[in-house]
Amino acid sequence: MIAVLDFGSQYKQLIVRRVRELGVSCLLYPYSIEPGELRKLRVSGIILTGSPRSVTDDDSPLPHPGILSLGVPVLGICYGMQALSRMLGGKIVRSAKREYGFSELELIKRCELFYGIGKHSKVWMSHEDNVSVLPEGFIRAARTKDCVNAAAFNEEKRIFLLQFHPEVTHTGCGRKVIGNFVLRVCGSKKDWRSKGFVENSIALLRNEIGGEKVICGLSGGVDSTVTAVLLKKAVGDSVVPVFVDHGLLREGEKEEVLKNMKRLGLGVTSVDARERFLSNLKGIVDPEKKRKVIGREFIRVFDEIAGTVGAAFLAQGTLYPDVVESGRVGTSSSAIKSHHNVGGLPDDMKLMVTEPLRLLFKDEVRKAGKVLGIPDSILSRHPFPGPGLAVRIIGEVDPASVEILRKADSIFCEELRMAKLSGKIWQAFAVLLPVRTVGVVGDERSYERVIALRAVTSRDGMTADWARLPHRFLARVSNRIVNEVKEIGRVVYDISSKPPSTIEWE
Ligand code: XMP
Repeated sequence: MIAVLDFGSQYKQLIVRRVRELGVSCLLYPYSIEPGELRKLRVSGIILTGSPRSVTDDDSPLPHPGILSLGVPVLGICYGMQALSRMLGGKIVRSAKREYGFSELELIKRCELFYGIGKHSKVWMSHEDNVSVLPEGFIRAARTKDCVNAAAFNEEKRIFLLQFHPEVTHTGCGRKVIGNFVLRVCGSKKDWRSKGFVENSIALLRNEIGGEKVICGLSGGVDSTVTAVLLKKAVGDSVVPVFVDHGLLREGEKEEVLKNMKRLGLGVTSVDARERFLSNLKGIVDPEKKRKVIGREFIRVFDEIAGTVGAAFLAQGTLYPDVVESGRVGTSSSAIKSHHNVGGLPDDMKLMVTEPLRLLFKDEVRKAGKVLGIPDSILSRHPFPGPGLAVRIIGEVDPASVEILRKADSIFCEELRMAKLSGKIWQAFAVLLPVRTVGVVGDERSYERVIALRAVTSRDGMTADWARLPHRFLARVSNRIVNEVKEIGRVVYDISSKPPSTIEWE
């Protein structure tokens, strides 16, 4: 097991992913974690992430010095390198020139970290500070044109320092470097497998839930479906799957979900809560407030059902990126958005929450779903956010806007299916913008609303690129939307990647 200490880098989750891709378990921890905790976790190695902070500031975050006496190898990446260097007596300077983007790395002295890697390779840099003088006992391993100490190591202490980012795909040798650290240097066991995860989770859930009843909030998406099937295997009929129609679903969504759940043998309780969600959202424009209100209403519905069936637990399909992005891990990273099932839990809720997937990334959930025998047609469904169309209507959510968006979105999704493009992308949807635009329809001037189309490719939703959909296809979708949805006067296509944008607009 590798522990990644979180100093707030935008790439921190990628480090966790890269380690897990090697089959080794890996989790993020706050940078200030006590060495005793790490000992209890029996970590085989520690990685320090980068950070938006500067190590040259007096109050810069540093790890507990005791982590260096645990007898396990330590790898510092970017800020992590600088923090370790500062703690060990090296010198850090703020350079006049920021090094950002590709650089050519030249290996000067080999160590285990660079096993099997050529003398020259392209690496990704993102820093202003530099380690100008290495701590005593450290040997320089590599340099770039603008960075004298691009990599260094102390073989005896088993501490490794990298100024570049091995976790991003731009660094060609990055996977190899991380693999060398995790498997060669740390000798970590390959203990991260979908089958093992499923078996462990079933045992843990049985133990946690005991003889109690558990409500499972079901959206029909991959995460909640895997959660429900896992629970069914663990506690049988004690699970009560509940599908809430909050009035913010896509066209035909409810029917499809109920059909799929029947196929899986899950008897679902379906609740019509359209009225209460929409009336509670009245007048709310702020995206975070929308999420909070929706989260609160979901819990109220679940609490009410729990009262009637006598349930003590609520199971949710929360994933690791949701947990991290909602700021529940690490004290130095700020919350990007509160995902409805994480940030919106009201203090007065009566149910105890269990989140069996909270350590997994989306593609890992799909693998677990396969182990559980869930058909591909369900596992390959595009993600759909819990707050539904509410976060795709920019501005206030009202029933008329929901209807307009639903029509436009269903045209886009139908065309994607017909062109056999759905399977090639991670997610696609329409967004309704709160602006009006001038056009001509027949001989008349029109003044209607704008739809933005969003389609992205991604592996796990943490980074994403806009999908290069064929122009002819986009032209067809645009024509259909403007012709068939009379309230829409213009269609635009979103060409932003994540980062810096997110996948959803809110
Ligand atoms: P972002 O917009 O953060 O989205 O790039 C990443 C993935 O998460 C989904 N998403 C959500 N899912 N509740 C959810 O259940 C939410 O509040 C939420 N916000 C975003 C999004 O659709 C994408 O797949």
